[in-house]
Amino acid sequence: MKIGIFDSGLGGLVLGRAIIQKLPQYDYVYLGDTARVPYGNRSKETIYEFTKQAVTKLFEQNCQLVVLACNTASAQALRKIQKVFLPKNFPNRRVLGVIIPTLEAIDSGHKNIGIIGTLGTVKSKIYELELKKLWPKAKVFEQAAPLLVPLIENNELDKAEPFLREYLKPLLAKKIDTLVLGCTHYPLLKNQIVNIVGPKVKIICQTDVVPSKLANYLARHPEIEKKLSKKHSQIFEVTDLNQDFLSVSKMLFGKSINSKVVIL
Ligand code: DGL
Repeated sequence: MKIGIFDSGLGGLVLGRAIIQKLPQYDYVYLGDTARVPYGNRSKETIYEFTKQAVTKLFEQNCQLVVLACNTASAQALRKIQKVFLPKNFPNRRVLGVIIPTLEAIDSGHKNIGIIGTLGTVKSKIYELELKKLWPKAKVFEQAAPLLVPLIENNELDKAEPFLREYLKPLLAKKIDTLVLGCTHYPLLKNQIVNIVGPKVKIICQTDVVPSKLANYLARHPEIEKKLSKKHSQIFEVTDLNQDFLSVSKMLFGKSINSKVVIL
């Protein structure tokens, strides 16, 4: 059986690449809902419906485990998928998100935590809720950064700096000591962000954190791991193959990929 990686679009290729680099032996299906991206400003109900459809599609392709690389889907849909959808429909399969593994990378010495993400992620308050469970005394400051995803998807990373400065200003005013990059696309902006926030702010970047958390999860769950086939295969699927697919996917994944179109 395979590992599924789901994202609202192509941004999850950034994390997908990091996961495959860390765990190359497994077989992967990446599914990006490019026909309906972005999810960031959609309602919770819609994000749940779309995520459920995508997870079902991946299960139909023999995925034992699906990683929601998308922060918005992890924030708005994961809990209901785990609590309601899986027990009823696929009790032996697993769906994991990126938010708790990301927060577990913050250590106790850090008190003023800044978070940037899509509007949906920030509005869900999930980062704050989960962080308070881990570190009840931490102060959490969240900032939606809705223009960053479109900029990256348009291959305009070099134009991001003024927007980043604007989004990060209120967080820097709160004297954050940690900044969580709470969106699939933001690892690509890490260097620019470090230049703005300076070396004293610890950056929590999902590509640095999630792959080893997944390896750790598989080590702790041999009943799941032993079901996974190990042929080093990778399949890429999207719900719409638009004109920019080749250049954007190459920029995000680091090399050219072929993708087929699926209907959810
Ligand atoms: N993948 C989304 C996330 O990580 C960003 C793109 C979107 O808004 O759908 O939040």
